[in-house]
Amino acid sequence: MQRVWLLVSPLARGAYFDAVHDVAVRELHAYFPDSKVTIETRGPLSFLVTDVPLDASRQLARLSFVQAVMTEKGERFSIVDQLADFNLPESLVTGTKYAGKTNELLTQFAINLGLAFLEPDGQTPLRLLDPMAGRGTTLLWALRYDMDAVGIEIDKRALAGFQQHVKKQTKLQRIKHRQTTGFIGKSNRGDDGRYIQYEFGDRQVRLVIGDAREPRRLTQQRPFHLIISDLPYGVAHSAVGGVMDTLSQCAGQWARCLRKGGIMVLAFNQYQSPREAIIDCFGAHGLVAKDISAPHRMSESIVRDLLVMGRPAGPTESLEARPVGGASSTVLR
Ligand SMILES: C[S@@+](CC[C@H](N)C(=O)[O-])C[C@H]1O[C@@H](n2cnc3c(N)ncnc32)[C@H](O)[C@@H]1O
Repeated sequence: MQRVWLLVSPLARGAYFDAVHDVAVRELHAYFPDSKVTIETRGPLSFLVTDVPLDASRQLARLSFVQAVMTEKGERFSIVDQLADFNLPESLVTGTKYAGKTNELLTQFAINLGLAFLEPDGQTPLRLLDPMAGRGTTLLWALRYDMDAVGIEIDKRALAGFQQHVKKQTKLQRIKHRQTTGFIGKSNRGDDGRYIQYEFGDRQVRLVIGDAREPRRLTQQRPFHLIISDLPYGVAHSAVGGVMDTLSQCAGQWARCLRKGGIMVLAFNQYQSPREAIIDCFGAHGLVAKDISAPHRMSESIVRDLLVMGRPAGPTESLEARPVGGASSTVLR
């Protein structure tokens, strides 16, 4: 049996800290639950060594912690020339740093968990919602995974930040795209409902200013395959009234925004929003927790973890997509 060596990216330690290998094993097992895995080190490098067949190398290369997929021949390693094969340049996700930005690998991990547990309905593209989107790290990752994405963010400054970032990266990388701005509903509610949307070929991403408690009004779209969000940690981005308070007001609408068979993945600070409390909150609206977690200590006051919950599959609920008012559009290169 050929052993596959997964080189752990040095960036993964910045995402998962001392728990990096434990988190990496959990991510691998989300896709390949029966695989055997050991941790090996060679000098400063560390590897997960597994019996997953090489024909899964594209999926292996897409795991958040993986820098390279390798095989061994005697004393020598060779790199498997299998790219993760994402859309658009990496810098579209990594190119900007700002306070409160979610670590890009953690975001990728959350999307990977969503995809690992999703019950496909045959529809493409997959559609992702981030109801607390900040300046859009998850949304831009979704584009790279060939999904359409919508984000909601309460901080109106996020729109300009998102626009500035996309403008810079598309210029630097010469990425053809179309920008649209407009309002959901009437444009007399201040910034509430103001959005910016980008189209990259057939894919599109939209960031809307508004409250995560109202995703159905703010998205006006059919239910999503994935809801992926990094919740406020109660440090830099406290949700008004506390994270659990806000979540309990969001839970019903978020559950209805998820299509049957869809998956929600939330990153959260255990000290602010305990896992069991979140499970109860969404369980009351029909979502069921999956048996996976990935706790990692970030600081004295933050132990981050991921929670995966699914909406049981069945006949698909249909919500009518309503037209969006007040749009203007420009093609940019
Ligand atoms: C941890 S940050 C997410 C960062 C984001 N993933 C990124 O990389 O830019 C949590 C976000 O939730 C937003 N937020 C908090 N309460 C909200 C609410 N009620 N509605 C919408 N957004 C909210 C905060 O403003 C903050 O931007």
